[in-house]
Amino acid sequence: MSYAKALEQATANPEQFWMDAARALDWARFPAIAHDEDDDHWFPDGELNVCENAVDRHVAAGRGDQPALIYESPITGRDATYSFTELQERVARTAGMLVNAGVKKGDRVVIYMPMIPEAVFGMLACARIGAVHSVVFGGFAAPELAKRIDDCQPVAVLSASCGLEPNRTIAYKPLLDAAIERCTNKPETTIILQREELRADLIPNRDIDWNAAYDAAKPVDPVPVKSTDPLYILYTSGTTGTPKGVVRDNGGYATALAWSMEHIYGVEAGDVYWAASDIGWVVGHSYIVYGPLLAGCATILFEGKPIGTPDAGIFWNLVDKHKVKVLFTAPTAIRAIRRADPDGEFIRKASLKSLKALFLAGERADPDTLLWIADMLGKPVIDHWWQTEIGWPAIATCFGRGETEIRVGSAGRAVPGFRFKVQDDAHQEVEPGKVGNLLIEQPLPPGAFRALWNNPERFKAGFADFPGHYTSGDAGMIDEDGFIHIMGRTDDIINVAGHRLSTGQMEEVVSNHPAVVECAVVGAADALKGETPVGFVVARAGTGDHDQIRKDLITSIRGDIGPIACLSTVHFVDGLPKTRSGKILRNLLRAIENGDEIIVPQTIEDASVIDTLIAHVAEEKAKA
Ligand code: COA
Ligand code: AMP
Repeated sequence: MSYAKALEQATANPEQFWMDAARALDWARFPAIAHDEDDDHWFPDGELNVCENAVDRHVAAGRGDQPALIYESPITGRDATYSFTELQERVARTAGMLVNAGVKKGDRVVIYMPMIPEAVFGMLACARIGAVHSVVFGGFAAPELAKRIDDCQPVAVLSASCGLEPNRTIAYKPLLDAAIERCTNKPETTIILQREELRADLIPNRDIDWNAAYDAAKPVDPVPVKSTDPLYILYTSGTTGTPKGVVRDNGGYATALAWSMEHIYGVEAGDVYWAASDIGWVVGHSYIVYGPLLAGCATILFEGKPIGTPDAGIFWNLVDKHKVKVLFTAPTAIRAIRRADPDGEFIRKASLKSLKALFLAGERADPDTLLWIADMLGKPVIDHWWQTEIGWPAIATCFGRGETEIRVGSAGRAVPGFRFKVQDDAHQEVEPGKVGNLLIEQPLPPGAFRALWNNPERFKAGFADFPGHYTSGDAGMIDEDGFIHIMGRTDDIINVAGHRLSTGQMEEVVSNHPAVVECAVVGAADALKGETPVGFVVARAGTGDHDQIRKDLITSIRGDIGPIACLSTVHFVDGLPKTRSGKILRNLLRAIENGDEIIVPQTIEDASVIDTLIAHVAEEKAKA
């Protein structure tokens, strides 16, 4: 089916379109109803098990010997390949381990682990027994982990003794202990995988040694769950300090992912697919774990960085080694590789015959980077757009349908099932080519979120501003030919090296410092990471040593949010630009920091502050 035909069918008869797509899966009970309009749920009466579909189904189909999970850890020097049969054994016993630890259907399990196979076994094991996993990215600090534990109230936490970064070993266990210490809802059980690089002290009567528990466990079969039951909760940054727990269902999600593997990425059973991301992010959930395995592909779990582990050739060497057909990464990774290997020498050294396309997402793909890598690879490089809430690509070039027309600067066209609109703040649809709020008409297709954990009000708020539409929070433009261009966020979320972070949350941390009277944190343009947080602080009179305050703030951000929220620039200023109603003009601060054109809003309280700020920022930059 061509892209145009799929788009037409998904628009004209979405129920039929998605019912047909659902047939790609094995269901314990195939749904009789496609979509329940009242509750806005897909496949409301269907039952299935996603782990069974991702693992057991391929063994039953005679593909047990094919590679399923390929672990590549240049940071430790280890690698391993698990066939579908081996994956089934590992996951079934890990599920037995969870059952022995008292985890039941519907219970939550937090997974705070590095990129190691046991983390994937843990996710799939939860899905196998109908438990709901919530993976927390290892780069988040203890208070962030605590917020997530408190919100989803897990029966158990799965963790490891350490994670490895190029410059240091990160002891996870003290972070987990500190998080649990802060929690009101303390989990009863924590299961800890001891890694050779750094072993952890286990707390008697709480911490269980993973290997001992695994050895004592018996394999457990998958249980059918309702299609609408939650498969996982994944927390993402909103505009406040409280993360949003995006809830993903089983049947709609699995259907959408299976469809996307074929029609967007153009892969099938037996192919090798690699998303170089982290299981802590939505990309990792959808395209390291569930998507490729549902499609019967081998997936690569990569514990390393695009550069420095050991060098900028690692992506291409692994593509060559495993005959990767599709590679997916964030533009930041390509910018890092380009810096280290500007002439593409590593790219030329590897054989990339197997590679059919490179997909980019997670942040804006700047045309310069996209064109550079397309030129170096000589293969299609496809930008595509999505969000944690949506769960799979909503804007893309459907490569699997033979589409290759790419418009540089655009993330592609609407994926069948998504109906995009652009409206101004007065709810008027804008003409093609004009920028406005990027909206998606309801109902959203299968796979997209239907709830936020513990927070129906906040969920509703995402649909309240433009009734009948999901507000993406991005500004966008649709051109005459239907290509959608993403222009950046309309709220206080920034994207640092593909990591979604809230500047509002950073402001909460900064304003807790006793010397800070008021502050604003904005995302400044960064040549490597896309954006980077920059603070503007009005300090209490007489607090003296700004260098010390700056150091304190950097330490607090790392300690309260995590090292990925890499605040490094803090400007000490006499006042912040505000509207007459007292709202801080963050866009103006961003323009000043970036050296962009300054557009002074009519509502500004005191325009004289602008020149002072421009002079201050210029002086600081000259010093740096
Ligand atoms: N656990 C603990 N700490 C982590 C971590 C993890 N899983 N991931 C990152 N960190 C730490 C890093 O060690 C670093 O700490 P430092 O400031 O003490 O050195 C900090 O968080 C920032 O890390 P990172 O954002 O990775 O920046 P970097 O400067 O170390 O590396 C890149 C730059 C471009 C190589 C890196 O950002 C990268 O690989 N980007 C691609 C991101 C990506 O794939 N995102 C996917 C989203 S789809
Ligand atoms: P996350 O929920 O972490 O996946 O972040 C989603 C946000 O990342 C989106 O709302 C966008 O702001 C940004 N984003 C993701 N993909 C792209 C893309 N291809 N182009 C521009 N921005 C993107």
